[in-house]
Amino acid sequence: MAEPDVQSLSIKDIPPPPEGTIFIDDTTGTDSTDVGTSTNSPLKTPAFALYAYPDATAYYVRRTVDSPYEPISASMLKKAKKGVDSIGKKIKAAEEAKIKKEADDARKLAEAKAIVLTEDTSLPAPKKIKIRDSKENRETRVVINGWVHRLRLQKGLAFLVLRDGTGYIQCVLSGDLANAYSTLTLTLESSVKVYGVIHSLPEGKSAPGNHELTIDYYEIVGLAPGGENAITNKVQETAEPSLLLDMRHLALRGETMAGIFKVRAALLRSFRRVYDELGLTEVTPPCMVQTQVEGGSTLFSLSYYGENAYLTQSSQLYLETCLPALGDVFCVQESFRAETSHTRRHLSEYTHVEAELAFITFEDLLHHIETILTKTIDYLLEDPDIAEIVKKLNPHFVPPKLPFRRMTYESALTWLNEHDIPNEEGEKFKFGDDIAEAAERKMTDTINEPILLTRFPVEIKSFYMQKCADDDRVTESVDVLMPNVGEITGGSMRIYELSELMKGFAREKIDPAPYYWFNDQRIYGTCPHGGYGLGTERIMAWLLDRYTVRDCSLYPRFTGRCKP
Ligand code: 4AD
Repeated sequence: MAEPDVQSLSIKDIPPPPEGTIFIDDTTGTDSTDVGTSTNSPLKTPAFALYAYPDATAYYVRRTVDSPYEPISASMLKKAKKGVDSIGKKIKAAEEAKIKKEADDARKLAEAKAIVLTEDTSLPAPKKIKIRDSKENRETRVVINGWVHRLRLQKGLAFLVLRDGTGYIQCVLSGDLANAYSTLTLTLESSVKVYGVIHSLPEGKSAPGNHELTIDYYEIVGLAPGGENAITNKVQETAEPSLLLDMRHLALRGETMAGIFKVRAALLRSFRRVYDELGLTEVTPPCMVQTQVEGGSTLFSLSYYGENAYLTQSSQLYLETCLPALGDVFCVQESFRAETSHTRRHLSEYTHVEAELAFITFEDLLHHIETILTKTIDYLLEDPDIAEIVKKLNPHFVPPKLPFRRMTYESALTWLNEHDIPNEEGEKFKFGDDIAEAAERKMTDTINEPILLTRFPVEIKSFYMQKCADDDRVTESVDVLMPNVGEITGGSMRIYELSELMKGFAREKIDPAPYYWFNDQRIYGTCPHGGYGLGTERIMAWLLDRYTVRDCSLYPRFTGRCKP
């Protein structure tokens, strides 16, 4: 039968491709010997088709994804035949190069394996140091233990950045040290012990600390996996947040994460320093309790040897009992909230810095809170290493200055209404409305400076809050609001008359019996007192400009996450 005249065929007339046809599509195809035999995975070029499938029954080409496959034209076939030879040559050359490279690599590895690294005993005994002490120990032989943070192999040289938790140092290996098998197969995150001398860097070169350790000997303590299980495959910056949280134990090793937790430690250190200067005594109240502080809806219950118990929401009530014994007190303790708000600033467990002060007025409390916050930040920034991390993570951070702007709840409502920011029902704010997170954030971000928001209505605050003497609709309460996170601190004066406190319990429908120890505070030498709680992770989010408080908790707990 005569061949159909392809040029004159309409789409309907195109003959069906016979068995053994090879398909080609210049736009979506790839030139590989794995494809070509099906319409869904075409080859890219006719020349490659002829090279890879010289005995094909037919070659069909399509011009676009939407057009049909048609038999190859005579002119295209002629052109393709010319290209076959050069493809063959290229493939052959590539195969030869690959074989040569494999042989070279095998030879190099064999040579590398033959290199035995030994410590030169004629060198001075090394001094064991931490990386942070590198500068003082330049030009002395040292030994440093750490983890391989970065690694670069170059012809005859190897550079590694070592990390030990106190800093980072660049190390260089040359000669046999660079060519040894253990160096060629070294992996990121391996733990190593390096020996050598730290030299300052010449002008124009840069590395952490402006120096470099010239290694004269090293030992691998624990070789980390490479290939598929390499750390870079386990923790990728662009991975889903929940995958990164599953791998939190490895993600912590990154510079940003490690920096956050160095700053967090410095923050807690600074708080303690300020409290110490102001004469507050640190106490550690229990986490397992049988009373609520901030409302029953966020209590985590547990069975305590068969009795009902909870994880503490706040240590406040316990701090109050310490006043007559120890004077002003503070604690750094975990608080737990079975939060219904799944927001970027709510955790189920957070580190609560709380303080309680005796014989103070509401104004004393406000002044104390703004002082604590400003001094703590000033002390934190006194440490140049910490200041550097803050600058890197939040270049625009401005330390707060005294006094903070004061704003009453009622004036905040006026401000919100004037700025057309509605309440949760989408209406104008009215007295008694809660200022929810979104509205609070908009106001704080617009005002863009710390705010002491005071005098909240009785009904939206806890049972223990003292009412204002000049208006019994509102309480001597305060929230500190910071740009970018909103509320970082909540505090108040406490009711110190027993009969008033009983009214508070009744209003909130709480049985006062389990609170006998707290109530005794009002019986055995009561006094005006007040205190507050600071959310560590929220302060961190503000200080380091983190999108969520989750970044500022070592192993964050929130709805659906209690691991690792
Ligand atoms: O305003 P809160 O609930 O106040 C109290 O617990 C008082 N009893 C404290 C006291 O007066 N001793 O919480 C205080 C602070 C908040 O301002 C916020 O910074 C933080 O604790 N906080 C949370 N942080 C993270 N996740 C949560 N779910 C938080 N709930 C409160």
